[in-house]
Amino acid sequence: MSKIAVVYWSGTGNTEAMAAAVLEEDEFEPMFSACEANLKGKKIALFGSYGWGDGEWMRSWEETCIGDGAVLACDSVICNEAPDAAAISSCKALGAALAE
Ligand SMILES: Cc1cc2nc3c(=O)[nH]c(=O)nc-3n(C[C@H](O)[C@H](O)[C@H](O)COP(=O)(O)O)c2cc1C
Repeated sequence: MSKIAVVYWSGTGNTEAMAAAVLEEDEFEPMFSACEANLKGKKIALFGSYGWGDGEWMRSWEETCIGDGAVLACDSVICNEAPDAAAISSCKALGAALAE
């Protein structure tokens, strides 16, 4: 079985709630810097919560990751502030896509 790392940072808990839905368990392994430097050929999926704007930050992040050689497993998931039911559902689907 492949090893999956769910790497996130969350100040107030919104992104943490998304991460919990991605894995549906509580075993997280924050290792952001290590992953960022080693994305070539890696299957990844991106998610995050934002406060304002239209999600441009995610488009920029996708471009950066693709530029680093990462392969996106599915559409990225973004939500405004706290994730609603649709965002949680999308996070679960994201986790499933990573596990394929
Ligand atoms: C210091 C600070 C800076 C922030 N900067 C941005 C920003 O540049 N763009 C944005 O969309 N939201 C910004 N936000 C809002 C957060 O992204 C938003 O509240 C998000 O839901 C927080 O998720 P978290 O609970 O996982 O930290 C900022 C919030 C704080 C406290």
